[in-house]
This record gives sequence, structure tokens and C-alpha cells, in this order.
Amino acid sequence: MIESSDLPQTRMPLNNGAGYIPALGFGTLIPDLALTRTATRDALDAGFRHFDCAERYRNEREVGEALETGLVAAGIAREDIFVTTKLWNSNHRPERVEPAFEASLDRLKLQYLDLYLIHTPFAFQPGDDQDPRDRNGNVVYDNGVTLLDTWRAMESLVDGGRCRAIGLSDIGLKELLPIYESARIKPAVVQVESHPYLPETELLELCKEKGIVFLAFAPLGHGMKPGLLEDPVISAIATRVGKTPAQVLLAWAVQRGTAVLTTPKTAARALENFDIAALPEDALNEINRIQTRQRLNDVVNTGNPGFIPRVKSA
Ligand SMILES: NC(=O)c1ccc[n+]([C@@H]2O[C@H](COP(=O)([O-])OP(=O)(O)OC[C@H]3O[C@@H](n4cnc5c(N)ncnc54)[C@H](OP(=O)(O)O)[C@@H]3O)[C@@H](O)[C@H]2O)c1
Repeated sequence: MIESSDLPQTRMPLNNGAGYIPALGFGTLIPDLALTRTATRDALDAGFRHFDCAERYRNEREVGEALETGLVAAGIAREDIFVTTKLWNSNHRPERVEPAFEASLDRLKLQYLDLYLIHTPFAFQPGDDQDPRDRNGNVVYDNGVTLLDTWRAMESLVDGGRCRAIGLSDIGLKELLPIYESARIKPAVVQVESHPYLPETELLELCKEKGIVFLAFAPLGHGMKPGLLEDPVISAIATRVGKTPAQVLLAWAVQRGTAVLTTPKTAARALENFDIAALPEDALNEINRIQTRQRLNDVVNTGNPGFIPRVKSA
């Protein structure tokens, strides 16, 4: 049983023996580069030790700078934080995987990664254009590479010693199972959209059975209003337990056995989102009984994530 005082410190073991992932993670999907720097530093200072990045977010350099200065200022060792980044769709060809990994490490100013994820199961036309389109504006997919081909290249990164664990993102059961069965190095983490409107119970059960960490994104429903933050069940529980709706949603995620990512953009929000405490069982049950079902991010169907501007911000 998780005690209320240790909920923010919860860690989950990785199935390959490579240590633990802190359950409560800070997501770096922040289009503004200056805000990326301050928000990352605020998250570190608030207590977050798990940082979720992606080459697609085009801000790894700013995250790396904020972490480098933040670790020194607070006297925190690199080994005491957990950093993830993701291989983008246009780098699925096996020969592109290691260069993409090295480029991310370089931008993040790191010597090793704790976790490298295949961002989506969709391969785009290989190349430096992250968003290849034909003249009609349709995404150009790459049929010349399978997800298993890409997975094999990811396994080689683990063999190389600078990548401690690998996993997948934006993937469903149907695509996960064949990779799991064929993998020499099993996926350690699966990152998908999940919140009370999209509990993904079947996938969560499979992950628990196989020892895969289920890592939820959009726990606050991407902050969209109306939405989860204003849901009457969540609001009523928040009032009852003296917490905010965001804290209730994050606590629910950790207590149901998932890791979770959140993206506070100010110091006050970082402190708020880290300050979670275990909910009583009746509150958990009430949340589990919510019937609304809603997927917010269409990325699982197309490989195109929502909420990322096409044009690089200044
Ligand atoms: N694998 C994928 O395809 C994928 C896709 C999406 C996200 N992710 C990852 O998941 C992370 C989490 O992102 P998310 O959008 O899913 O997170 P989220 O926590 O569901 O939503 C973030 C939004 O919630 C608002 N918010 C944060 N804390 C709040 C609080 N205490 N009270 C009220 N509103 C609050 C913020 O709004 P303001 O803008 O007002 O601050 C922020 O824009 C991302 O950074 C990224 O690392 C992965």
C-alpha cells in the first residue's frame, strides 16, 4: 500500500534489471524554447526526477541546458535523474536509429539515456524533414521498414551500453504483442494517452502481466476545458480531500499502478503537481466508475501528434 507521504517518490522497477523509473514524470512538450528552460528547471527544483523528451519536440537542447545547470546548482547527480527521449517517425530505418540517438544525446548533453522510445509505430519517409508531405498535403509514409526492423536497431543501442532501456509509444495491444513476442530485449515501457476518460485497462493489464511500465500521457486531458479538470466527480473529490483536480488526477494515475507525465509550466504549478497524496479507496472507485470515454490525441491513428506546431518557434 502506498503511503500518502511517499506517493511523489514512487518508483517502478524496469523489467530488464536496469533500475527504476520514477512514477511521476515531467513532460517537455513545450513549444516555447525559453519556457522549456524555465519549466524544466522549475520541475527539477520542485522534486521531479523523471524527464520525458523527444527529438520531435525540437527543444532537447534547452532541456539539456536546464538540466545541466540545475543539477550542478542543486548538487544532484546525473544518476539520480531519469531521462527519456524518443526516436521520430522519419528515423525508423535501422541505419538512421543510432545517428538519431547520438544526436539526441548530444543535444541533451548526456552520456547515456535511461530510456529511448520509438515515438510512434508509423514510419515516415526517411530524412531530415520530420513532417514529409506530398503535394496534396498528405503524410508520406515509408513502407520499406517494419516496426520490428526498427526495434532490432533499438536493441543494438542497449547492447552498446549508452541506452539503458527501450520501449514504445502511441502503440496499441495489436502492435505491441508481436514486438513483445519477437523481441530479444523486451520493451521496458509503453507510453500512451491515458486518463479517467481513456483508462486503457486491457493494455494496462497486459503491461502489468509482462512487467512493462505503462506510462500515461495527458493525465489532465491536455489541460483542455471543458474536460477532466472540470469533471464533477474529480472536482468533488478534490474538494473533499483538500487537493486540486490536477493533484487528484495525478494521484489516481500513480495509485492504479501507472507512471505518469505532466507538464507544469510555472514554478507554482510544478510544486502543485509534485505535491500529490494517496486518495482514499472510495475516491479511486468513484473515478474508476466514470463512464465518459474520450481520446484527445489522434497520434495512434496517424503517427501525427497533436499539439506540436509544425513551424519551429523562435
Ligand atoms: N507520446 C506522445 O505521443 C505524447 C503526446 C503528448 C504528450 N506526451 C508527453 O506527455 C507530457 C504530458 O503532456 P500532456 O499535455 O499530456 O499533459 P497534461 O498534464 O495532461 O496537460 C498539460 C496541460 O495541463 C495544464 N496544467 C498543468 N498543470 C496544471 C494544474 N496544476 N492545474 C491546471 N492545469 C494544469 C497546462 O496548461 P497551461 O498551458 O495553462 O500551463 C498544460 O498545458 C508531454 O509533455 C510529453 O512529454 C507524449
